[in-house]
Amino acid sequence: METRDNFTGKIGIVLATVGSAVGLGNIWRFPYEAGQNGGGAFILIYLLCVFFLGFPLVMAEFAVGVKAKANVVGSFKLLAPNTKWFLVGIMGVVAGFMIMGFYYVVTGWTAEYFWQAIQGNLLHKSSEEYKVMFDSFIASPIKPVIWTVIMIALVHIVIINGVKNGIEKVSKVLMPMLFVLMIILAIHSLMLPNAMQGIRFMFEPKVENVTSYGVLTALGQAFFSLSLGMGCLITYASYFGKDTHIPRIAFQVTLLDSLVAIVAGVVIFPAVFSFGLQPDEGTGLVFVILPTIFQQMPFPIFWSSLFYLLLALAAFTSVISLHEVVTAFVKEEFSYTRKKAVTLVSVAVLVLAVLASLSLTLLFPVIFDKTLFEWLDFITATILLPLGGVAVSLFVGWYVDKRILLDVLQQEGTWKFRFFKTYIFLLRYLAPVCIMLVFVHNLFA
Ligand code: PHE
Repeated sequence: METRDNFTGKIGIVLATVGSAVGLGNIWRFPYEAGQNGGGAFILIYLLCVFFLGFPLVMAEFAVGVKAKANVVGSFKLLAPNTKWFLVGIMGVVAGFMIMGFYYVVTGWTAEYFWQAIQGNLLHKSSEEYKVMFDSFIASPIKPVIWTVIMIALVHIVIINGVKNGIEKVSKVLMPMLFVLMIILAIHSLMLPNAMQGIRFMFEPKVENVTSYGVLTALGQAFFSLSLGMGCLITYASYFGKDTHIPRIAFQVTLLDSLVAIVAGVVIFPAVFSFGLQPDEGTGLVFVILPTIFQQMPFPIFWSSLFYLLLALAAFTSVISLHEVVTAFVKEEFSYTRKKAVTLVSVAVLVLAVLASLSLTLLFPVIFDKTLFEWLDFITATILLPLGGVAVSLFVGWYVDKRILLDVLQQEGTWKFRFFKTYIFLLRYLAPVCIMLVFVHNLFA
């Protein structure tokens, strides 16, 4: 078997992991979910989920990966030999594969919109026309499929080059670009007339708008956005050096990920309100509402191209991490070369993603009210990721030897982790109970 690759250092670790976390979840999904679930209150619940449940779980997944130094299934096998815990790893691989199925499709949409924006085609249309444009684009059997295939091919090339020369190199170029683009766009949005209305919508918690479905959505979104609950962070952490300060890196990643989500809101909501529109468009928010807005600004081609480039970059580094989870599993568990493993995964996901894209056309039946595309999103974000989160917290909280855990977290005793007891309490009780409560409540709601 080939030797295992590592990230080269702290900057590579943070940028690659933030590259995974920051994605469509932050810039496409978070704003429309906040828009549909009443704004401020949703955002508050989301942030609570991120810091009280997400952050400890990010640490837990990191600890597993750093200790085991293996793919997600291999990690459970190594730390819990001769038990059924590896099934949690299998569930992670399945979830990763399913997420890729729709994620690649949307990544393709972002590329198409970037392409349309730089050509100046997102101009002089009414919002009705943008809606028709978006609806007919995603429901066409050819264009979105071609983009999906192009995206898979690009990620394939990155992954084949390995962790250091592929994933890390790409993240080191794309992530700083993404941060700069975000800041420019946010400043621009804040300077629009009536920007404050958008800001108020985001930060005024209207409790009457909270539903139990909203809470589950916020929880699922927190996990999705942090790339939690399916072993992505276990896989990436398996490429961290042993000398990684886990709580610190986990905190930086959590903080940056939520900052990007909030800043994405600051880019989008002031613009929406400034032009007298409503933010409850759903999945079409960034593809329908935003073009309407960009065209009313000075330099519309410039601003819209910048935005869709940002979205495409964010999506790209995330889908790389999903592809890597499944690839690392295939490579290590079947002792394949990296090349053979990536190829297998690329071909398999090609089939699923093309089907998911075609499920939005008229050629495909809707199954129980949802398309295949919607099912993939729904099953992963609201079922598999929360369950994966519970499993990881129970595994690290109860099963893993506390001395070993403490040793990994404290980098073999080079510093003292003072909140260890609180941390274990969180993992053992608070996280699983909270997640299950929200989960079960919604199952029967
Ligand atoms: N975190 C990514 C996003 O917000 C999605 C993702 C989920 C990536 C799970 C990897 C694993 O878009």
